Amino acid sequence: MIKNNTSGLLIVFEGTDGTGKSTQLKLLETALRQRGFSIESTFEPSNGRYGKQIRALFTDRRQISREEELDLFIADRKDHVDRLITPALQSGKVVLCDRYYLSTIAYQGAAGLDPDYILSRNYFAPDPDLALLFHTPVETGIRRITEGRGETLNDYEKEEYLQKVAEQFKQMKLPFIQRIDATSDINTIHKEVLEHVTLLLKSQ
Ligand code: TYD
Repeated sequence: MIKNNTSGLLIVFEGTDGTGKSTQLKLLETALRQRGFSIESTFEPSNGRYGKQIRALFTDRRQISREEELDLFIADRKDHVDRLITPALQSGKVVLCDRYYLSTIAYQGAAGLDPDYILSRNYFAPDPDLALLFHTPVETGIRRITEGRGETLNDYEKEEYLQKVAEQFKQMKLPFIQRIDATSDINTIHKEVLEHVTLLLKSQ
């Protein structure tokens, strides 16, 4: 929610689970490194102390209230921003982050908290320069998780809940969002990602 006034760039990857955003992040990272950019690639929940607490809750969210859950995601973000994102931006890096505060608005908003309130709790976080928002039908994402990765669904990945999350993402209007149809093939999506990023780099 604060302007990124550094020489670095913050690009975040957002969407419901199983949209392929993590794969696209890696492809973009490789492409940008080849062009000589210095990259910091990271993710949320982070691997800091609060991020680890969140991951421990993944299989049973009923242990804490939705307010406590929001507090944990915010604490993790503050820690991640202070420890990693801001220093990387200040040193002029391109930071690629797998999930950021749009996920908090969508997931904790879908759990019943007010999206505007959630946004306001992120007052300390630098705004992304670009948020790539990956869209697939929720059923497709779930199929990719259960069949493709052979994983079972955690509490954040149950279909009914994810439909609400998708609705939150759909309603979001922030100037740095670019929506991507993630039902096409990996290469087509990668090209589209590159087009958005190239435009951003040219505008600097
Ligand atoms: P995910 O990127 O799916 O992690 P992994 O690939 O390691 O399983 O993120 C984990 C879950 O956390 C995801 O289902 C969304 C949820 N989440 C929130 O509910 N709020 C948030 O603010 C963030 C960053 C993630």
